[in-house]
Amino acid sequence: MLALDQGTNDNKTAETIGKPGAFLSRIESCWVGHNETIIEDEPDKEDRLGSGNAEPILSLACSLFSSKVFAVPTLPIASTGTATRTCRNQLSKGPDDLDAAYCRVRELSESLCETLQPEDCVVQTVPEVSPTKWHLAHTSWFFETFVLKEALSDYTPINPQYAYLFNSYYNAAGKMHCRPKRGLISRPTLSETLDYRHGVDALMEGILENEDLLKQFAPTIFLGINHEQQHQELMLTDIKHVFSENPLRPIFRERAETMGSTVPPIGWVPFQAGVY
Ligand SMILES: [Fe+2]
Repeated sequence: MLALDQGTNDNKTAETIGKPGAFLSRIESCWVGHNETIIEDEPDKEDRLGSGNAEPILSLACSLFSSKVFAVPTLPIASTGTATRTCRNQLSKGPDDLDAAYCRVRELSESLCETLQPEDCVVQTVPEVSPTKWHLAHTSWFFETFVLKEALSDYTPINPQYAYLFNSYYNAAGKMHCRPKRGLISRPTLSETLDYRHGVDALMEGILENEDLLKQFAPTIFLGINHEQQHQELMLTDIKHVFSENPLRPIFRERAETMGSTVPPIGWVPFQAGVY
């Protein structure tokens, strides 16, 4: 998984992020679990990543992200089907472009919430667990911060306070709310959070349909897609922990009934006495 390198030079990062060569020089492979590991600057990192030459950097991005990003798995749609579709309120178009990959990943995040109630989405059982609502907002904040704000010179934040609430550990992007208290934040509501997501999607559509901007920000969008997929894993593990703390034992999603094989009746098996 990839995470933005959170160096100490905020201005430099703010200037360079979004420009393929410089941007990818500031990312590093690492596992980002619940702690979203912060990695230190390494002096020779730019050399290893071939900074300053967009061509190898873009090919590096392609190999890093690979075509797997387009093969976004889809969970069975829950019977309730209450999730609001993102991306022009329709299912994604196809499997072979960045626009489609963006839509499919964004849609899947909301599909994961189809069996949840708003109350489920705000609970934080332990500091290592984030509320579902926070994941939905944070993944949108990523695209707003590292694509929309960089790409659109006259960009006005959908809500300026969201940058503080939904930044996780990206020090270069500004201050952030403390993780253990994410479960204390009842506002924005889940509905407002979904509105925020859809607002970001509507603006991202403009980026994805602009050839020049798409070329410039493709690596960042790839990264944002992978970042959201990482948070989809966290949404599942976190909601399982949330439900595990509930004496009512809520079920995240009913398992599909499977036809098991018939088990033969239990009986005694005779065998010759001896030392075996
Ligand atoms: Fe994150």
